[in-house]
Amino acid sequence: MTDNFSTPRLYLGSAYYPEHWPEDRWPADIRLMKEANLNVARLAEFAWSTMEPAEGDIQLDWLERAVDLLAENGIASVLGTPTAAPPAWLTSGYADVFAIDEWGRPVQHGNRCHYCPTSPSMIAASVRIVRAMAERFGQNPKVIGWQTDNEFSRTCYCDRCRQLFQQFLARRYGTLDALNQHWSTAYWSQTYNNWDQIPIPIGGHNPGLMLEFKRFITATNRQFQKYQVDILRQHLLPGVWITHNYMGWFDGFDHYDFSEDLDMVSWDYYVGTGHHDYLSHGAIHDLTRGFKQKNYWVMETQPGCVNWSGINNMLNKGEARVMAWQGVAHGADGILYWQWRSALGGQEQYHGTLVDQSGQPRPFYEEVQQLGKEFTVVSNLIAGSVPKARVAMLNSYESRWSIHWQRHHRDFDYVQHFNHYYRPLAEMNYPVDILSADHIRDANELSQYKVIFAPALLIITDKLAEALKAYISRGGHLVLTIRCGMKDSYNALLPMRQPGLIRELAGVEVEDFYALDEPVPIKGPRFSGQSIQWAEHLHQISKLKLSVLARFEQCNGWLDDQLAIVVNGYGQGVIYYVGAYLDDKSQNSLVDTILRTALLTPLITPKGVEHHTRTTPEGAEIHFVINHEREEKVLPIPWPAWDHLAGQRIEKYIKLPPYGVVVLTQTT
Ligand code: GAL
Repeated sequence: MTDNFSTPRLYLGSAYYPEHWPEDRWPADIRLMKEANLNVARLAEFAWSTMEPAEGDIQLDWLERAVDLLAENGIASVLGTPTAAPPAWLTSGYADVFAIDEWGRPVQHGNRCHYCPTSPSMIAASVRIVRAMAERFGQNPKVIGWQTDNEFSRTCYCDRCRQLFQQFLARRYGTLDALNQHWSTAYWSQTYNNWDQIPIPIGGHNPGLMLEFKRFITATNRQFQKYQVDILRQHLLPGVWITHNYMGWFDGFDHYDFSEDLDMVSWDYYVGTGHHDYLSHGAIHDLTRGFKQKNYWVMETQPGCVNWSGINNMLNKGEARVMAWQGVAHGADGILYWQWRSALGGQEQYHGTLVDQSGQPRPFYEEVQQLGKEFTVVSNLIAGSVPKARVAMLNSYESRWSIHWQRHHRDFDYVQHFNHYYRPLAEMNYPVDILSADHIRDANELSQYKVIFAPALLIITDKLAEALKAYISRGGHLVLTIRCGMKDSYNALLPMRQPGLIRELAGVEVEDFYALDEPVPIKGPRFSGQSIQWAEHLHQISKLKLSVLARFEQCNGWLDDQLAIVVNGYGQGVIYYVGAYLDDKSQNSLVDTILRTALLTPLITPKGVEHHTRTTPEGAEIHFVINHEREEKVLPIPWPAWDHLAGQRIEKYIKLPPYGVVVLTQTT
């Protein structure tokens, strides 16, 4: 019986490649999916050579039969456009299709993303296949969503891309004089007299040129995707969404710009070697939710193990289940395993699957089956609910790129530093929204947050400075850290000290910054610890409302006794400047102090136990309590609750077995 797939629900599924198998096997696979309580399959994202075996010979009947069979078993379909894997007739038939690497070599056929996103032949062929798919399936209610391509990641260095880059620069700067000036090209005689002299940067290059090239990559990939999105939009039923599957912190392009053309985003959640780290993975869930500031999907996750890491170890029994629940708690409405069954050939023979090469379920299948049962129980309860946060963190691809091109300390990593703030927040169970600093238009977008952290926000433009100023003056608490406010949007140093345009508000400016070859001691009323990797020497410029939270102690002479962490009052709010990269213990205590000063209270849970909440449109809270560890944990609850997974009432305390999960609502 065909389900009515338009009702919102929690989705559990898998990537499924019927084109790998004879059609008479499909019913057995789909029966096993149904028995595992799966309700969605993603298909076709690498099936171009089956859908169009020769140029113009479109063959979609098989796909429709697969979609029908899935739907008859209560399984909805998500279709991927197949452009990540252009077929051989296309790559061999048209010289412009292959991407060119930085050394001028064309990439090879037979892997993925081997195309140049500006290639006219690739674009024409993509438009044709996507149009054919959209015409056939756009109005089919069994197809609930579409994914464009797969994990965009390619940078092309061909002559056409270089020319397009030069045209892109001409549009942005208008004149070469402006470009030369913003990029300080007199330095090393880089001055350009003609647009066609401007290279694509290879390795380290002029900071302005490098930042613009990243913007160009974002724009060209976005345009490549937009050709597909525009066609799909003409054909899709209302409510059918378009997504793309991102790779977590991958920084090949600006994901916020890119997401503007999508209805929903998703990400591919792989652990690789080792085990799930709920604190850093929580950050990626929140990062992904922040691309559109709405719920998202985990479009791929590992069924036990992968095949591409140093050690492709299995996740522990029960670990994938808590990973899935953590995703849901953070706003994922769909979790899909990659992939259903091990293909006999192809590059991924050893990857984890639900069904092995013989066609029989692996032991891992049972864990998914259990999850499927649980999703079915709470699907109605959870559908439509979203996480809500009073704390935000600002993320910036542009600041991150700029720092990574000139780290100054080889170990300084933007994401690690970001997580250095995220982890204590997550450990204290503060929900966090992660927003793009580069896309904030005004303070109204920030008004729901009591505290905002801006780790290593190197580039602070006039517009952002204005928004932050208004946010603080209305009572917000802003935390600036090392490396903040140093550059403009051309990746040039600002002709003023850090934190640049907001130093008056901060009440301090940075007299100098120090990459540290050894930690320096630091002391404040609430902690004494160390600053590692980095220290900034702050100079007080406001006489009034500045309080000192820590000073450096004796170390290299320059920093001895200097201000390290301060807080300044501005309007109704406060602004912190953290000129240190604190050790973990001191960092926890600093973050705790900042939150408590803003009158936010932590929710203390035993180590490894996460508490997260989603709120329904009616305002009811659904609590997810997840034990990410392998020992039993016990914790008190302040009110009697209904445990939806176990179907029982609980009072006073929760006993969580190893990798245990409860989904609770308050009861009387
Ligand atoms: C992803 C990719 C999938 C599959 C998976 C294996 O990056 O999107 O198609 O290759 O990795 O872990």
